[in-house]
Amino acid sequence: MDGGSAANAGRNLRPRVRRVAFTLALCAALDLTVGAAQSSDDANARSYRVECAAPDEPCRADLATYIGWRVFQAQCATCHAADVRGSTFAPDLMLRMSGMSQRDFFGALDRGYFGSASAMPPRGRDPNVAPYYDELWSFLRARITGDLPAGPVTQLAE
Ligand code: HEC
Repeated sequence: MDGGSAANAGRNLRPRVRRVAFTLALCAALDLTVGAAQSSDDANARSYRVECAAPDEPCRADLATYIGWRVFQAQCATCHAADVRGSTFAPDLMLRMSGMSQRDFFGALDRGYFGSASAMPPRGRDPNVAPYYDELWSFLRARITGDLPAGPVTQLAE
């Protein structure tokens, strides 16, 4: 994705927009079938909107995903890296979270993680993290699905 020409940008944009639209349609379908079992928080957290127009411009994301990116940079990137791919002492979250449910993700943040070699402090009472679990989830889902490449994010005009 580093061709740079306008023609390339146009070609690259289309599949990604279609994929997000499909994801949203799928979420809507799941809500219908799962019905009352889904809280509105779940539905909200699953959907994100990302638009990447040109390779040399930041991608734009809905407000929640954008906030998630900012919180991640401030609170998580020192260990898990700005691009989410991990460091020598913290795991690559694109791999580690690929099959993780939202419930398990929130639980990991609440409890922290104490491995034999490394640890993550609990965040359930951290005012810089606890209010933003949904936003972090939106951002990380967008990264893990590949809809949002590594790099800076700006907010979509809504
Ligand atoms: C002090 C460094 C540090 C910070 C800051 C940090 N983490 Fe972690 N994180 C870790 C380590 C270390 C592990 C587990 C390593 C292992 O497997 O032993 C981990 C594990 C995880 C896991 C996997 C938990 C599981 O149950 O498998 C998730 C998800 C996660 N971190 C998300 C985050 C998010 C989101 C933030 C920001 C709010 C964050 N981390 C901040 C170090 C950190």
